[in-house]
Amino acid sequence: MKSHHLVALLAFFSSTVSSEEWNVLQHLGANGQWFPGPDIYNLHGPAPPSNCIVEQAAYIVRHGSRYPDPGAYSQWLSLHNKTSSASRSFTGPLSFLNTWEPVLTYPADDIAQVSVTGYQELTTLGATLRLRYPRLYAPNTKFTVWANKYQRVIDSARLFAHGYAGPNASAVVEVKVVDADKPSALANSLAPSNLCQLYVDDSSAETDVWDNVYLPPILKRLRRYDPASVLTTDDLSLFPYLCGFETQITGTRSPFCAVFTKQEIEKYEYRQDLRYWYGNGPESGLAGTMMLPVLKAVTELLEDGPGVSYNGTKGTEFTPNPLVVAFTHDGQINQLASVVGVFDGHPTLPAGKMLDGRWYVSSRITPMRGTVALERMVCGKERYVRILLNDAVYTVPSCKSGPGGSCPLERYVKLVDKRIEAAGSFSKRCNATEGEESGKSFFVDADAEWVSVVKP
Ligand SMILES: *[C@@H]1O[C@H](CO)[C@@H](O)[C@H](O)[C@H]1NC(C)=O
Ligand SMILES: *[C@@H]1O[C@H](CO)[C@@H](O)[C@H](O)[C@H]1NC(C)=O
Ligand SMILES: *[C@@H]1O[C@H](CO)[C@@H](O)[C@H](O)[C@H]1NC(C)=O
Ligand SMILES: *[C@@H]1O[C@H](CO)[C@@H](O)[C@H](O)[C@H]1NC(C)=O
Repeated sequence: MKSHHLVALLAFFSSTVSSEEWNVLQHLGANGQWFPGPDIYNLHGPAPPSNCIVEQAAYIVRHGSRYPDPGAYSQWLSLHNKTSSASRSFTGPLSFLNTWEPVLTYPADDIAQVSVTGYQELTTLGATLRLRYPRLYAPNTKFTVWANKYQRVIDSARLFAHGYAGPNASAVVEVKVVDADKPSALANSLAPSNLCQLYVDDSSAETDVWDNVYLPPILKRLRRYDPASVLTTDDLSLFPYLCGFETQITGTRSPFCAVFTKQEIEKYEYRQDLRYWYGNGPESGLAGTMMLPVLKAVTELLEDGPGVSYNGTKGTEFTPNPLVVAFTHDGQINQLASVVGVFDGHPTLPAGKMLDGRWYVSSRITPMRGTVALERMVCGKERYVRILLNDAVYTVPSCKSGPGGSCPLERYVKLVDKRIEAAGSFSKRCNATEGEESGKSFFVDADAEWVSVVKP
């Protein structure tokens, strides 16, 4: 081989390797900033297969990167109190704790709000979807985006609107705010669990087991860098969380990212998988069924196709855009990902040891701005549903015969209907007495009284 060929080849390999380098920020469960999921099925999304066109799509999105909630922030403060009142004798990888200060400069303004990295993720998502689906929106026409009624979620929708519709967003986009707590909404919202009195998100039985397996060896390894024995396993369990939050809040990699080894971070990541799998995921019983009404509403839209007009309960007509975008929270994104079919037949996650080869990985499902997308594709004369989690195509094991791993539309609709039938009615599952279940979905009912409109 000629030497310049070899040089070119080596350059190729080194750039390939560095672009796929293991990145701690992509293994933090729900606590990391957004990244595109790996193409685990080698299906080359998000571009559609060459003979297909996406004529309609629904993106259900978690709010963008954010500042900590009050509870998490008080944990940071107690850790700081501890490390600053210790003799400040940390060494090695823990030396930074001798001078560490929590990174919130304006806690009163920032707590619980979308962060600046969040602004970036959301406007980028807006621009990305406009570029991805150029035929689904004409400039300066009306566009609707939905948000669960919660400040950072509404703000996420508003930021998205600017990236999507551009400088005239505040004139042409309306953000429909869905109040999931209004009794009349019942399950007809972006957070149905709010009105399910039997809903419990509790994975502690499993996470406690794993915490006792994976954390003590890390504490033991780090003990020599903490001669005053200040840190506990509880403190250490916050380190990857702080890695994710501090990095996106400051825009600079946090020193907490360098404490755990790659193997230790992977164990932390598994801990996040257990938290979601048993909390409100595939093996959480009732909790995992909470987003079925939203899945039903989305599949109804895809079944009807783009451009259909609907009369509201009081007669107001509404025509959803072919691109439907709605914002909510991590729990809801995980609940939805767990019922769309892509984790059907997934082996159970053992609490005492990591399950290798699993494809249920919370980092790839609900990072900040995590997204479940369902597309209606037309390929020749046939119509298909294709599912993407954070831009990576996932397949439904029992229905993936379509182009690019998609499922024929009618079969997908049947699959969803069967799932809903098996789960039983939401009211019965939740022992709810108020609200009615059979109404039109908030996506099409312009008269739903638990929906209000704000400008982006
Ligand atoms: C800070 O630490 C001291 C002990 O070092 C403790 O007495 C105090 O309650 C702590 N304060 C907070 C807010 O955690
Ligand atoms: C924004 O709206 C104004 C008034 O309708 C229009 O003249 C202008 O071209 C629009 N800007 C863009 C970028 O579409
Ligand atoms: C919607 O309402 C209008 C009159 O208000 C009626 O003409 C039309 O048929 C209705 N469409 C549907 C789909 O019900
Ligand atoms: C369901 O609700 C009824 C009254 O609203 C109550 O008596 C009953 O205990 C509830 N069942 C469960 C399982 O919570």
